[in-house]
Amino acid sequence: MYNTEEAAYIYEQSKGWLNAPASVDQLEGLRTVLRYHEWKYYVQSDPVLTDIEYDQLYHQLKSIESAHPELITSDSPTQRIASDLNPEMDAVPHIVSMLSLDNAYNGEDLKKFDTQIRKLAGIAEDEDIQYCVEPKFDGGSVAMIYRDDLFDRGATRGNGQMGEVITTNLKTLPSIPLKVKFSDKSIQTAEIRGEAVIRRSTFDQVNSSRAAEGKTLFANPRNAATGGLRMKNPNDTRERGLEVFAFQLGYAAGADGQNVLDQIDNHFDQLVLLKEMGFKVHNLDEVLCQNIDEVISRVESWEKNRDEYPYEIDGAVIKVNSTKIQELCGTTGHHPRWAIAFKFKAKQVISTLLDVEYQVGKIGSITPVAKVEPVHVAGVTVSSISLHNEDFIRERDLRLGDKVLIERAGDVIPYIVKAVESVRTGDEKSIDFPKYCPIDKSASVELIRAEGEAAWRCPSCTCGAQDLERIVFHVSKVAMDIDGFGRAYVERFYEIGQLRDIADVYNLDYSEIQKLEGFGVKSVQKLQAAIEKAKKNPLSKLLHSLSVHHLGKKASQLIAQQISSIYDLVDWDEEQYTSIKDIGPVVAQNVQAYFSQPEHIEMIKRMEAYGVNISQTEDDKPVEVADDAPLKDKTILFTGSLQEMTRNEAKQMAILSGAKPLSAVSSKLDFLVVGEKAGSKLKKAQDLGTVTIWTEKEFLERINQS
Ligand code: IVH
Repeated sequence: MYNTEEAAYIYEQSKGWLNAPASVDQLEGLRTVLRYHEWKYYVQSDPVLTDIEYDQLYHQLKSIESAHPELITSDSPTQRIASDLNPEMDAVPHIVSMLSLDNAYNGEDLKKFDTQIRKLAGIAEDEDIQYCVEPKFDGGSVAMIYRDDLFDRGATRGNGQMGEVITTNLKTLPSIPLKVKFSDKSIQTAEIRGEAVIRRSTFDQVNSSRAAEGKTLFANPRNAATGGLRMKNPNDTRERGLEVFAFQLGYAAGADGQNVLDQIDNHFDQLVLLKEMGFKVHNLDEVLCQNIDEVISRVESWEKNRDEYPYEIDGAVIKVNSTKIQELCGTTGHHPRWAIAFKFKAKQVISTLLDVEYQVGKIGSITPVAKVEPVHVAGVTVSSISLHNEDFIRERDLRLGDKVLIERAGDVIPYIVKAVESVRTGDEKSIDFPKYCPIDKSASVELIRAEGEAAWRCPSCTCGAQDLERIVFHVSKVAMDIDGFGRAYVERFYEIGQLRDIADVYNLDYSEIQKLEGFGVKSVQKLQAAIEKAKKNPLSKLLHSLSVHHLGKKASQLIAQQISSIYDLVDWDEEQYTSIKDIGPVVAQNVQAYFSQPEHIEMIKRMEAYGVNISQTEDDKPVEVADDAPLKDKTILFTGSLQEMTRNEAKQMAILSGAKPLSAVSSKLDFLVVGEKAGSKLKKAQDLGTVTIWTEKEFLERINQS
């Protein structure tokens, strides 16, 4: 439909207008651009703009057309009225039209919304307005009519005025009651609005069975849900596993045909009624907010935890609670003025892949890093993204100059999902993975890739990059934990020749460092104190901090339990390692190889001479847990900020009491100890219902028992 050149041109135009709005003489161009994006989104299921960007362009068109109504053409994207209706399905008019929602993108927009409500309803500044906040479900909206307590007719939203009849399909969904007791409330006819959604886990199952059957996969849960509503065979709808959340009573009339909707005082009571009638509604405990500030913090916290919600949500819907205030605000032809959708920040954005740089890790692994044109994604600016390894690049056929789709979910680091191939111009260049050390190209050290490993490695470092990374790791929090000593310090000390290997960390010339710009007596004293402290670290920490390939923290602890001095390992063979439970042959081979190299022993000797502990300490010895230890064989997790102790101290106490700390809430968890501002972990544990929840005080009482 569009050739590559056109697609690329349209993409550039779109970006241009996102930066500087289109003018009236670009009206037709803007329409062409929007038609292209509609096609990409709806026909190809392969959008090249985010929803927010599309909305922005659509609004530009809308506002030009409302300033120049004489220029509106019948084929303008704004004139799509009946387009959502499938001509093969029966269409019915809705009793009351199903409006859309206006959008808010940040707290400031919500404040403006609140101000507007005050103006429309004449509410003073110092008076709180109550709001209801619900997730903005991302599926297909439906209207369900009940007459004389029975489910009578179901329809899609369609174009808002008319919807497609899907009664038999909706009847297959267990979340829709077929019989309700509206008559108890003197309601004879009611129209309930809601959204049919699909759980993420169900979506994954649906897609994997489609993959097994060789069918095309759904791009997202929304597509699977909207498609599921319109199936020809109701059995197919049922199999899709849709669930309907009710979010509004659109219409309610008594036997005399009188509308009784305004007799329900507020939206919250509507939801309570719907729940009472057997509909699925969002957790009512977290719906009501007393004012707009509460709304803002609620939606921000939902946005932060959106990935923990079992359904895909792309925002929240905020509704004025009071029916009276709603009436005072009224509606536009497009949306009610008393409700607004708060859109979460895009988790997916598109940017340009400018370059690929290569980093050398502490054991010589080469990590390709994409340099992209800086973009905002889910609240952060991104310009560098790890590409992990060569296969990652090849699987995605990434090329320099590509437009790439970047995703960032929750706190997960951003990653490149794919290249947007449809907007390639042909000028993109292939990415040539280096064959030699990417730092010191003149050294011609050939990279190697061991069988079964994803990474290319530099086997004999001549450029110092690996030494530097090993020092960065050695001083880091996870290893020797030298407070304040980060990458920036390592790089500077390396530059002035103070550091060449990890032993040098303990032989710094502080008087030289003090001369460096940005360093003073105080900062040097602090650094020195932190290094002195690290010298006394347990042996397990020292072992872990050496950057032995595959030797992690846990294995380091297990080995340290078995030896009195690090030099014992010089004589250890592989079998001695593998005889320790949980240590396998790969770790054994690598640690054995490390301690068989004289230069490593030399370096450890230097460390010892500088005062670093090389012997087993009390902390290295295995914890003896008595049979009657209060938490013997139990699992525990700490969340929120603790007041009486640090997280580490709490964990240590738990271990000494026989418990095993876990890092996430699961059915394996016995106890969750909650500090202040506990968040999603607490909620998840409550939802599971099998976890015992303790305050800090209860935890301390329990471990101090007996
Ligand atoms: S209320 C009062 N509540 O969003 C205004 N809509 O852009 C009527 N949606 O077509 C909508 N979750 O399908 C409302 N909790 C929620 C919603 C919700 C999703 C959808 C709805 C509507 C669209 C409007």
